[in-house]
Amino acid sequence: MKRHVSTTINGDAAEFLCEPGAVLLDVLRDVQGLTGTKEGCASGDCGACSILLDDRLVCACLVLAAEAEGARIETIEGLARGGELHPLQRRFLEDAALQCGVCTPGFLVAAKALLDRNPDPTEEEARYWLAGNLCRCTGYDKIIRSVLDAAAGMRGETR
Ligand code: FES
Ligand code: FES
Repeated sequence: MKRHVSTTINGDAAEFLCEPGAVLLDVLRDVQGLTGTKEGCASGDCGACSILLDDRLVCACLVLAAEAEGARIETIEGLARGGELHPLQRRFLEDAALQCGVCTPGFLVAAKALLDRNPDPTEEEARYWLAGNLCRCTGYDKIIRSVLDAAAGMRGETR
C-alpha cells in the first residue's frame, strides 16, 4: 500500500504518495520534477544526489522517500534565492569549475553545508568535507578554489 508523505521542499510544503520502498532521489526527480539532483551511482558512492535533510547532508539515493515525512528537504533548486545565484553558484561559473556538470549540484549542496558550518574552511578542510563528491572531469582543483573563493566573498574578503 502506498504511503502518504508530508514534507517541506525548499521551504514549500509538499506531499506525495510513494511505495514503502521508494527511494527519495527517485521521488524528487520523477514525482516532484526536481531533476537538479543527479543520479550518478545509486549506491552512495558519488555524491551527485547530495541534498539536505533537516540540515544533514545525505545521499538521496540512500534515503527512503517515506523517511521524508515531517522533514525539511533542501535541494539544489533551493540554492538560488529571489532570482539571485548563491555565491557558490556564481564562483563555479566564473571559475569554470564544471565540465559535464553531472557532479555540480551535489558539490554545490555539499559545499553550502560546509560553509553553513564553517564559513572559513582551510583547503584541507574543504577537500576533506567534499571527499564524498566525485568528479570525473575537472580534477577537483577548480572546484576547491571556487568553494574557498566563494567563502572569502561571503566573509566580505576579496581574492
Ligand atoms: S547517486 Fe547517490 S551517491 Fe551516487
Ligand atoms: S564536471 Fe563532469 S563529473 Fe564533474
